[in-house]
Amino acid sequence: MQTAIYPGSFDPLTYGHLDIIARAAKLCGKLVVAVMHNAGKTPLFTPDERAAMLRRAVDEQNAGSNIEVIAHGGLVADLARGLDTYGKPVIIKGVRGAQDLYMEQQMAVLNRAANAELETVLLPADPKLAHLSSRAFKEFARYGGNVAHFAPDFVVEALIMQNAELTRHGRGCFSREA
Ligand code: PNS
Repeated sequence: MQTAIYPGSFDPLTYGHLDIIARAAKLCGKLVVAVMHNAGKTPLFTPDERAAMLRRAVDEQNAGSNIEVIAHGGLVADLARGLDTYGKPVIIKGVRGAQDLYMEQQMAVLNRAANAELETVLLPADPKLAHLSSRAFKEFARYGGNVAHFAPDFVVEALIMQNAELTRHGRGCFSREA
């Protein structure tokens, strides 16, 4: 019963992430969804907020009873080393298109360089969900677009509230600090 790790920023989660989680959970004994830091991104939500939203969504969508959500501040390669009680874990990621494939291929090579036994399995995104991204979700929400199809209602509400909070503190989309 192999353990799989699904690492990501999940800032915030989308239905695309939830689809990969549900499909990945069927392929392994245990799925660890790991909220991690991407050095190239400035997250809107804290790791704990992102993990809490994922736990609630996984629960509400009945994505699988073998799923654990954690927030982890280090390297995926090190996380995998700590999860090898029942054999070597694998990484599972979703790919929406050529750009994702390019990035994921690079990350897979880096992760294997850091942990020689760490393999990455890539799942093609459901074509109906392949246009969804956290980046587009945030951008549409920020400019008042309809984001109901991006994620469950409670995530949409959290994003709208977070945007309102930023605007209140002078960090709205047209302010100097934005
Ligand atoms: O959802 P994202 O932003 O595409 O996920 C990228 C993520 C968070 C999985 C990646 O940046 C990552 O693995 N961060 C943890 C640090 C690490 O292990 N880096 C080496 C692989 S690039």
